[in-house]
Amino acid sequence: MSHADDHAGTRRDFLYYATAGMGAVATGFAVWPLVNQMNPSADVEALSSIDVDVSILEPGSQMTALWLGKPVFIRRRTPEEIELARGVEISDLPDPLANNANIDGDAPATDENRATGESGEWLVQMGVCTHLGCVPLGDGAGDFGGWFCPCHGSHYDSAGRIRRGPAPRNLPVPPVEFLDDTTIRLG
Ligand code: FES
Repeated sequence: MSHADDHAGTRRDFLYYATAGMGAVATGFAVWPLVNQMNPSADVEALSSIDVDVSILEPGSQMTALWLGKPVFIRRRTPEEIELARGVEISDLPDPLANNANIDGDAPATDENRATGESGEWLVQMGVCTHLGCVPLGDGAGDFGGWFCPCHGSHYDSAGRIRRGPAPRNLPVPPVEFLDDTTIRLG
């Protein structure tokens, strides 16, 4: 089996997604109220990288992939969401660091340092609240046009940065890269 075939199998077996982001995330919340309590099976844990086909995503929609037993939010943002995120001063952010595994750990939490790819459209981040591990709601939820964690009221903006509530960190950006225009590799 080729490497590509191997990843295709991975996708079939371990990725679930939906184009209607809110529905997908809402379902995720029901299934995973606390990600830290999950016990992913050994075969899921063993998958250090997966390839995700994002061709179904239009601007303003998102999907959730399952990677290392945890949800990963992949959102294709609208120009308005990008503009909103880029208009924020770093000094207004509770967590001033990008929290992006693909760049330097000291990098500031600018929108450019959070987004994946050159266009700024794509935001890929762990769907795990940095407070106690609930799965936040998405599609513009919360007071900052991004994600909202109802467990204890954490609001994240359209770049996934914590803006208000008890969560201490921005949603982590996992190791991610584009393999081509419509395929993202996680891990
Ligand atoms: S787990 Fe998200 S606010 Fe507490």
